[in-house]
Amino acid sequence: MLELDDVQSGYGETRVLQGVDAHVDEGEVVALVGRNGVGKTTTLRTILGSVEPWAGTITYRGEDVTELGPVDTVQRGIGLVPEERRIFPGLSVEENLELASYGGADTENRRDLPWVFDTFQNLQERRQNRGSDLSGGEQQMLAIARALVSGADLLMLDEPTEGLAPMIVDRVMEVVKDVRDAGITVLLVEQNVRVALDLADRVYVLAHGEIVHEATPEELRADDDTVERYLGVSFAD
Ligand SMILES: Nc1ncnc2c1ncn2[C@@H]1O[C@H](COP(=O)(O)OP(=O)(O)O)[C@@H](O)[C@H]1O
Ligand SMILES: [Mg+2]
Repeated sequence: MLELDDVQSGYGETRVLQGVDAHVDEGEVVALVGRNGVGKTTTLRTILGSVEPWAGTITYRGEDVTELGPVDTVQRGIGLVPEERRIFPGLSVEENLELASYGGADTENRRDLPWVFDTFQNLQERRQNRGSDLSGGEQQMLAIARALVSGADLLMLDEPTEGLAPMIVDRVMEVVKDVRDAGITVLLVEQNVRVALDLADRVYVLAHGEIVHEATPEELRADDDTVERYLGVSFAD
């Protein structure tokens, strides 16, 4: 579905991505993990086209999308929920979703508001509340729901559980599983390695702007060396 071939990009004079090779197959949940500052967010931005690739090729559903900006990639079904979530604080949950349902992509996976309210029970309850009244977890769910009503086929999530209480992390994980079960492909960036390993079918480890390791969650759980070296956490405890 998505393929990155030797993708390089950066900011100003600074090259961040040194040549990323990765792919995501339809229906998969793929996690991209790595220490702070290695280029995870930059990878998602480069796929979306808000950061321009310097070299390499990005292919989406067989089409070369390397040169496309965010308007065109979103129209093809690529959606990014950024770390900052960027919901409209002054609009209600329902209005946030209505706004997202204009434009976007006419994909098969495009969801409507009834589907969202059926799937995200707490958004249903908070339907008339303003964005600013929502908790961090509810804002994250609204941001994900917005990408789905915009027609994301490939949903890219940047640190969806960041800053959330453990109980709310579990809720967001359930939502990601529901999204996957609905047939939407997920590319997940996570600092929380346990969350990444629990959700993903396949994991890429990014270090200094390159993929240094690819594994299944089972393989990574058994590979304390790699996990300690590149992620700075240990499963031994
Ligand atoms: N808008 C930006 N302008 C300049 N440098 C940036 C910008 N965003 C990120 N960087 C730098 O690019 C590198 C990778 O950042 P990022 O992709 O955000 O890492 P990660 O998401 O893995 O923590 C870091 O050194 C960061 O300081
Ligand atoms: Mg980041």
